[in-house]
Amino acid sequence: MGMPADVKSLKAEAAEMTDRALEALLPSVDTVPASIHGAMRHSTFAGGKRLRPLLAMQAAVAICGKLPPGIERLGAAIEMLHTYSLIHDDLPALDNDDLRRGKPTCHVAFGEAIAILAGDALQTRAFEVLAGLDSPPAATVQIIGLIANAVGTVEGMIGGQVLDLESEHQKPTPALVEAIHRAKTGALIRVSVVAGGVYAGANADDVARLDRFGRNAGLAFQIVDDVLDMTVDSEHLGKTAGKDLATEKATWPAVFGIEQSQRDAAQLIEEAFAALEPYGSRADGLKSVARYLIERKN
Ligand code: IPE
Ligand code: IPE
Ligand code: MG
Ligand code: MG
Ligand code: MG
Repeated sequence: MGMPADVKSLKAEAAEMTDRALEALLPSVDTVPASIHGAMRHSTFAGGKRLRPLLAMQAAVAICGKLPPGIERLGAAIEMLHTYSLIHDDLPALDNDDLRRGKPTCHVAFGEAIAILAGDALQTRAFEVLAGLDSPPAATVQIIGLIANAVGTVEGMIGGQVLDLESEHQKPTPALVEAIHRAKTGALIRVSVVAGGVYAGANADDVARLDRFGRNAGLAFQIVDDVLDMTVDSEHLGKTAGKDLATEKATWPAVFGIEQSQRDAAQLIEEAFAALEPYGSRADGLKSVARYLIERKN
């Protein structure tokens, strides 16, 4: 059973555009100091799904009816931030994983010091790329502010990672696991949708709608990440399966069970569609991506 043809082609298009932009935007492996550029590229080109760029692109289409020129650089910057978060997430001090995107993790391949620095470097390069986007200056500044906030400590990615680590080995409550998921993963998914919209000229009402959609999609995404950790093997997942149970992570299935988790993810996506109603068929791409977020197998 594969994906529906429409999302399959949208996903392939987004991945190709993102990969091409990343190729152009990241220093080559022979640029000095070569070790770090090799490490940045190792993790960036290890075969990620490029879902955040895809969400940004389809949010843009919902707003302006087509892919705005240069949006692949927004997608590439978001993917750099995401890849940095994965490199650091896998470090021995955090989740201590040796497999990522089907390849040895960055610290396994390049050592811990270079992996830490490669994460840092992807983050700074991402903001440099955002500063040079083709959007009107006010939109660019808005995008940079929103993204910086989403990866930050207050209800953002880093804050969520802190909560996630500090909640290991204890019985999670529904409120705790929701706070972790909205922050560690939800915030970057949500801002990918909003930033894509802003890049395409979204007004304040559009931003509010995309934000509502993205907030639900982000939580649903992490719920499914937790379910996949328990239901898919490492080979198909491209990362070590069963890790959450082994480290007693605060996951959605740990609180609600697998079946309820699947229902919750589906419900969140269904509710999210209401926010897109004003866009009619222009939001069809974004909707099919959201469906894919919860139907994916890796
Ligand atoms: C995995 O994200 C890490 C989380 C934030 C849960 P993805 O499932 O989007 O990973 P890649 O980019 O395809 O490797
Ligand atoms: C990772 O969450 C979230 C971030 C990288 C910010 P997980 O720890 O669940 O991600 P995986 O399962 O290792 O990809
Ligand atoms: Mg983690
Ligand atoms: Mg992890
Ligand atoms: Mg996980």
